[in-house]
Amino acid sequence: MAGVIDDGEAKPATAARIYDYYLGGTYNFPADREAAQAMLQVLPLGPQLARTNRAFLRRAVRFLAESGVRQFLDVGSGIPTEGNVHEIVQRINPDARVVYVDIDPVAVAESLELLEGNEGATAVRGDLRDPQSILSHPQVTALLDFDQPIGLLLGAVLHFVPDDDLAYDAVGQLRAALAPGSYLLVSHATADEAPHDQGELDVAHDIYRRKTATPLGLRSRAQVERFFTGLDLVEPGLVWMPLWRPAPDDPQYFADDPKLSSGLAGVGRIP
Ligand SMILES: C[S@@+](CC[C@H](N)C(=O)[O-])C[C@H]1O[C@@H](n2cnc3c(N)ncnc32)[C@H](O)[C@@H]1O
Repeated sequence: MAGVIDDGEAKPATAARIYDYYLGGTYNFPADREAAQAMLQVLPLGPQLARTNRAFLRRAVRFLAESGVRQFLDVGSGIPTEGNVHEIVQRINPDARVVYVDIDPVAVAESLELLEGNEGATAVRGDLRDPQSILSHPQVTALLDFDQPIGLLLGAVLHFVPDDDLAYDAVGQLRAALAPGSYLLVSHATADEAPHDQGELDVAHDIYRRKTATPLGLRSRAQVERFFTGLDLVEPGLVWMPLWRPAPDDPQYFADDPKLSSGLAGVGRIP
């Protein structure tokens, strides 16, 4: 599939716009809202999960920028929303560079609109399952220096690559392109320890499979850990999303029972 984004047969909704709907955004269409509403019947905490993931991403990106990382490759970046990566990191370091990559053309178009006039950030359409086309994309190579550390952000995207061979290979190829001192950020949906019944999960899988081009594939803790093999996991390691360096001003939906966030989060440093 080199260089070509394979959307499969045209599907009416997208993961990016369902997520945007959950976050209270306005870049979604009736088909996305319909899919999101169907998801809410079986996973009513969807919006809280989305906001909790987004809060993790903000905290972790802030941590990376404060640790001196000045370049970011955000794959599966989504539709712009409050606390975008470039806003956080360029506030800390005005020269920081960010490339957003998403398979959804609406996400890319909206990102480009927001980034107009920002010379340190851009957005391109790309497919995580074809990592070389991302790494060799002219706008990626123009903005990012792969001889210097890069923060590779894979927030809530790997569970849209359910094929294990493709997912581990893609992350391996992206990691291999990064200089020592780079970081990998991952958040990932899991059914481990969460109280979902299998029937509800089956319905959720069915909705993404039928209505979007990016089917869902949850992974266990051990499977998510595998993305970090050989990296130095930053404290506190791979944990439930709300437990990764929590901040008082973040949503506290899962304060009493973090595993209900159904998402694992971690940051690893490339030695
Ligand atoms: C749940 S959103 C996460 C957005 C953002 N990373 C965050 O953590 O808030 C998942 C995003 O991944 C994108 N996506 C799904 N499969 C992808 C793929 N194969 N390549 C690139 N992007 C993909 C979707 O279009 C969507 O924008």
